[in-house]
Amino acid sequence: MDEILEQLRRDVAAATDSKQVEQVRVKYLGRKGIITTLAKNTDFSRLSSEEKRSFGQRLNALKSEAEQLLKEALEKAKAAEKDLVRKVAGLDLSLPGIDRRLGSIHPIALVQMELEEIFQGMGFRVLAGYEVELEYYNFDALNIPPDHPARDMQDTFWLDNGMLLRTHTSANQVRALETYGVPLRAIFPGRCFRNEAIDASHENTFYQLEGLLVDRDISVAHLIAVMKTLLSQVFKREVTVRLRPGFFPFVEPGFELDVQCLICGGKGCATCKQTGWIELIPCGLVHPKVLEFGRVDPNIYSGFAFGMGLTRMAMMEFGIPDIRLFNSGDIRFYEQFPAAF
Ligand code: FA5
Repeated sequence: MDEILEQLRRDVAAATDSKQVEQVRVKYLGRKGIITTLAKNTDFSRLSSEEKRSFGQRLNALKSEAEQLLKEALEKAKAAEKDLVRKVAGLDLSLPGIDRRLGSIHPIALVQMELEEIFQGMGFRVLAGYEVELEYYNFDALNIPPDHPARDMQDTFWLDNGMLLRTHTSANQVRALETYGVPLRAIFPGRCFRNEAIDASHENTFYQLEGLLVDRDISVAHLIAVMKTLLSQVFKREVTVRLRPGFFPFVEPGFELDVQCLICGGKGCATCKQTGWIELIPCGLVHPKVLEFGRVDPNIYSGFAFGMGLTRMAMMEFGIPDIRLFNSGDIRFYEQFPAAF
C-alpha cells in the first residue's frame, strides 16, 4: 500500500491540469482503479480477524489519503486555470473595481435647457449664432456705428482678420431677421466674450440668452408679459423685480430689468455689490433702424428684444456666490449638480 501511495503522489505531482488530475483519480479510485481493485480482490475469508481489522484500517487510510491528495491537486489545477483565463482575457480580479463616475450637467447648461423649454412653450424657436462674428452684426447693424461711445462699454476681443469674438448675443438679431423674416419669435443662447476685469460677478467669458419677437402691433405690454411669465417659471417663487430706463442703441425705449438679489435677499452682498439688486435682463423695443437693417419695414412691424445674463441667472437660481466658479474646473463644484443621463 505504501508503494501505491508513493506512485499516486508521483502521478498527482505530474498532472498539470484538472483533466489529468481526473485521469489519476480514475486510475486509483475509479470502478476499476488500483485502490478499488485492491479492496475488491482481497480474500478476507483467508485473513484472521486481527489481520482483517489491520488491513481494513490501512486500506481506509490509503483511500482517504488518496482522496485528499486528489482533492487538493484538483483545486490547485482549477485555480491555475482560472488565473490563466484572467491573464489571457486581461482581467485581474484582485485589482480594485473601476470607479465609473457619472458626469454632471453644467449649471449654465441646466438653466439654458430650462429656459429653452419655457420659451419653446411660448412659441419661440431656439437659434444658434456665431461666437466669431463680423463687426457688422455685432455693432453696425445694431445701430452702433464705429464712432459710437457704446462700443467702449463692451471691451472687445478683436481678431487679426478684423472679425471679433461677439460681445453679446444681440449680434444674432439682424442675422435672424435676414434669414427667417417676420413674424419672428426666437431666442439665441450662447457664449459671449469681453475683455474686462474679472470679479465675483464679471467674467471675460459668460453666457447670454437673447430674445427677439417681431410682429405687427408689438408693445412694451407684450415685453412685460413675457418677462413675467419667464421669471415666475424660472425661480418657482415670488421674485421682486424693478424696471429702470436703460440705454442701448438698438432699442427704443430701453429698460433694465433688475431682480432683487436672491443670494442675500436684498440686504447687500459681494454678488450684488452691496446694492441688493442684480441687473438681469436689459430689454426694450427693437429700434426701427435695426428692423431696417434686417430688411423689415418699421412702419408695419415692431418688436421687443431682451438679452439676459444666463450666467448670472444660474448664479441666482442655484445660489452661486462667485461667477469664477463656473469656469474653475473644480470637480467639487460641478459634482453638486445632477448627473448626466
Ligand atoms: C447687452 O449685452 C445687450 N446686448 C442686452 C440687450 C439685448 C439689451 C436686447 C436690449 C435688448 P449688457 O452689456 O448689459 O447688455 O449685458 C447683458 C447681460 O449680460 C447683463 O445684464 C449681465 O447679466 C450679463 N453680462 C454682461 N457682462 C457680463 C460679464 N462680464 N460677466 C457676466 N455676465 C455679464
